[in-house]
Amino acid sequence: MPSTTTDVLIVGGGIAGASLALRLADQARVTLLTKSSLTEGSSLYAQGGVAAVLDPREDSFESHIEDTLNAGAGLCHRKTVEFVVRRGPAAIDWLVQQGAQFTAAEELNGPPFHLTREGGHRHRRVVHAADATGRAIETALIERLRAHPNVRLLDNHIAVDLITRRKLRRGRDNRCLGLYVLDKGRGRVETLAARLVVLATGGASKAYLYTSNPDTSTGDGIAMAWRAGCRVANMEFVQFHPTCLWHPHAKSFLITEAVRGEGGRLTLPNGRPFMQEHDARGELAPRDIVARAIDFEMKRGGLDSVHLDISHKPAEFIRSHFPTIHAKCLSLGYDMTRDPIPVVPAAHYTCGGIMTDLHGRTDLAGLYAIGECAFTGLHGANRLASNSLLACLVFAESAAEDIRQALAAGIKTSNELPRWDESRVTDADEQIVVSHNWDELRRAMWDYVGIVRTGKRLERARHRIAMLQEEIREYYSNFKISNDLIELRNLVTVAELIVRCAMARKESRGLHFTRDYPKPATRTPPRDTILNPATNAAAARRVSA
Ligand code: FAD
Ligand code: SIN
Repeated sequence: MPSTTTDVLIVGGGIAGASLALRLADQARVTLLTKSSLTEGSSLYAQGGVAAVLDPREDSFESHIEDTLNAGAGLCHRKTVEFVVRRGPAAIDWLVQQGAQFTAAEELNGPPFHLTREGGHRHRRVVHAADATGRAIETALIERLRAHPNVRLLDNHIAVDLITRRKLRRGRDNRCLGLYVLDKGRGRVETLAARLVVLATGGASKAYLYTSNPDTSTGDGIAMAWRAGCRVANMEFVQFHPTCLWHPHAKSFLITEAVRGEGGRLTLPNGRPFMQEHDARGELAPRDIVARAIDFEMKRGGLDSVHLDISHKPAEFIRSHFPTIHAKCLSLGYDMTRDPIPVVPAAHYTCGGIMTDLHGRTDLAGLYAIGECAFTGLHGANRLASNSLLACLVFAESAAEDIRQALAAGIKTSNELPRWDESRVTDADEQIVVSHNWDELRRAMWDYVGIVRTGKRLERARHRIAMLQEEIREYYSNFKISNDLIELRNLVTVAELIVRCAMARKESRGLHFTRDYPKPATRTPPRDTILNPATNAAAARRVSA
């Protein structure tokens, strides 16, 4: 018998998973698991805010749609973009009902919230809670979930693999039936059965040595779905955020794009601004362009970092709009009200992921994916700033609509899922193998699959990843699993998927820049890169209008 059965099993407690759980909790029994503490994940650290059309005097759905399409460099699916943008204002209303508090507007006649600007947006449309928006939303949602009688929250439980009918050799329909989960406190693998399973596991930026993301972003959901038979798409589009704080003691600390939105300028260490030489939109060009420009200037000048300078703005303005960043910089010896901050690009967001429709449905019956782990066609070749939290909220709502219908149709749980079999493994002998492979993988991805790529570098990465995969596979089949081993196994899988997609794209577009094909392909219409585990082949599919 499975250890637990539930109606809906949600893996991930970020803004995607937590919103979905709240939307379902009145109608269903929900179990939500997180591999670390309940709130830990990228959502908690989101700074800039949520993009939505909230000031109809200045802004419009058409404008937000167009900005998203422009940033996406021809690869966004227009239908998805319209779906998400038009549901934006209602998503913000819902958040406010859940208790999320945003920075209020200074003027009385407009929208109730202060709206900031970020790269690629032609209007002010980013609602925020100073520079700690994710924390404000995440803590409000988790607080409500803790109080709900239908919700079971399991922290420090890491999902290992999906259980599907095909894996159990029970018929041709590959329905998802549940999950194996390692209870990290007890060191025991449990079997969880559910009528429906949802992956909301976040992105995979920990595949890179330098990242803005917390340790949870190891692509677990993408790897699990791939192993279970789901297609994944566009993994080559790894977004590098242009401005992470450069300091040996500042692990993964982001400097929000809103700093540039409020007037911050990028300069060389000698004080010379350089963005206008790269794009007429300057500091507010889309992220792929700004990150590439910084990479170019750092390589040209042999620099460790460039500078971000907002010290020309009043000190009180800086302290009130960016209190978290101001305090962090001060703790490291930089006063941003007076000095520029040293910044570098770092891996930030996974634009590709598990292929889903507009209701989060994947290729497997009974399995949904939402949030950063999903590929919906929204972001195309480059995500527009602050569209991720919006996507988490909108797809949580649309998945909830579909899940309610599926539950009402009477799907059953399976009570006959086999236990995890540990009879042929022993305790791991050398943890060093895991930590060494982890470092090697992340360095190879940074060196060979970074902001600027070439066919030769990708081939090198592919070779290294194949060797690491072999070693990790052997280790996994001989030894008892641990959190680090599960994550490493997943990271090496997503690294392979990123490299395979990058090798299949013979052009430069958005976040994928290769010296071998420095321009976008002109003859063919833009295509998504789709990897199918059933055939293990890459295919290109034309993006629908
Ligand atoms: P996450 O918030 O990453 O949550 C993933 C959850 O899955 C976690 O609970 C984790 O424990 C759990 N999990 C993962 N694997 C497993 C497993 N195997 N078993 C059990 N649980 C698992 N976007 C914006 O739109 N606006 C912003 O201002 C913004 N700022 C950002 C700032 C930073 C520093 C970062 C890192 C990202 C930012 N982003 C922003 C991007 C955005 O925050 C993320 O894309 C979004 O929060 C992802 O939400 P999610 O719910 O999909 O995943
Ligand atoms: C930021 O605040 O710069 C991050 C916004 C985002 O990733 O969308």
